[in-house]
Amino acid sequence: MALTIRPYTQDDVAAVHRLAQRAFSPTPGDEFDPERPSMADDRRIVAEWDGRAVGHLGAWELGHFFGGRRLATAGITNVTVEPESRGRGVGGALLRAGLDAAHERGEPLATLFPLTRHVYRRKGFELAGVWPQAQVTTSALADLPTPTDVEVHPGGVEDLDEMLALERSVAPTEAGMLDRPREFAARNLRPGTHDAVVLARRDGELVGHLVYAHERSSADHAFFGLRVKELVGRDADALLALYHVLGSSASGAPSVILPVGPEDPLELWLPEQAWTASAVSWRWMSRLIDPAAAIAGRGWPDHVRGRAELDIVDPLWPDRGGAWTLQIEDGRGQLERGGAGTTRVEVGPLASWFTGWASATRLARYGKVTGSDLTTLAFLDAAAAGPAPWVRSFF
Ligand SMILES: CC(C)(COP(=O)(O)OP(=O)(O)OC[C@H]1O[C@@H](n2cnc3c(N)ncnc32)[C@H](O)[C@@H]1OP(=O)(O)O)[C@@H](O)C(=O)NCCC(=O)NCCS
Repeated sequence: MALTIRPYTQDDVAAVHRLAQRAFSPTPGDEFDPERPSMADDRRIVAEWDGRAVGHLGAWELGHFFGGRRLATAGITNVTVEPESRGRGVGGALLRAGLDAAHERGEPLATLFPLTRHVYRRKGFELAGVWPQAQVTTSALADLPTPTDVEVHPGGVEDLDEMLALERSVAPTEAGMLDRPREFAARNLRPGTHDAVVLARRDGELVGHLVYAHERSSADHAFFGLRVKELVGRDADALLALYHVLGSSASGAPSVILPVGPEDPLELWLPEQAWTASAVSWRWMSRLIDPAAAIAGRGWPDHVRGRAELDIVDPLWPDRGGAWTLQIEDGRGQLERGGAGTTRVEVGPLASWFTGWASATRLARYGKVTGSDLTTLAFLDAAAAGPAPWVRSFF
């Protein structure tokens, strides 16, 4: 029988859970938790072979911020094929169908965390940003300057809406930040675990929040390790107040793993080299499903003005590729059909440039952009320049 890709239904819950266990779970006996906040059924698809569910793909409804504007994005996750059916095209078919569904929903961009890159590269994804993870000596956080006007107190799942509002208010100021749906964010705030939620307030207003967990540690003299799941601070004092809370566990936990973005002031404050190299940062990959809509949907620097005549190569949808002229002016960008197509780029590396992860000059140096002249490369570099794009959380 032929492979079919179909919508997910409640009848698939057990089979898809089993697929996820076999793909990702360290202990196959992990219990399914029906209370765990979950993605809506209509954002999932299932691959069926001989009447059996053999694969699954989900897509969170995300916003991704670039140039201060929110771009509707499919956050692809839980891509699984049962071990017995791998290597026969099921994963590729799921990806194509998942990207088609995102296109129909009007999401011009898809982002995911790849466990393996090849599968996604073949479908037009390329590296586009980082989920940074630094391991820091906990006592160094205790020694940071003390904030004067911020108070901290324990929080919980009941504070989620306020926390999300804070996250959304700071997101436009950083490249790549996510606007996450409530059920996505709630997954990090399940009660009954070792997780702690800490809120930082100034005059009653929420200015920062922290979610962290204890985990096993094999380090000498460690009772436990600390892992930060969420950390948002509107300003320096908010961040300092939250870092102090982490620092207060230095007696039991010698080190803490936390996401430190490219412009986080922590490195400016730490007087000594308190980093260790063992924390693993994750790269995310993005896919321009509809390059014209994506270019029109993100913000661009007000001071950059120019045009580039592109030849975009798309392995899945050749009709969305071809000759396009890019114009950027007054903070807005647009792609119009036509032009000489002198600057040739595959849709994957185009995504690396689009998010600001890789400059056009660097991509040209490694043969990922060809045919371009120096003036065009300088324009493209200036348009997408800025701190490396990053996200605060994994999905
Ligand atoms: C990754 C996964 C979803 C791919 O599904 P699949 O049905 O095996 O993939 P396909 O048969 O469509 O293969 C697509 C391409 O990727 C390659 N590929 C498949 N699995 C791969 C892997 N784990 N590592 C590297 N390449 C892989 C195939 O060789 C094929 O390459 P080609 O097009 O150049 O011939 C599946 O192997 C799986 O469930 N793995 C375990 C869970 C996992 O890692 N999920 C990804 C989470 S980001």
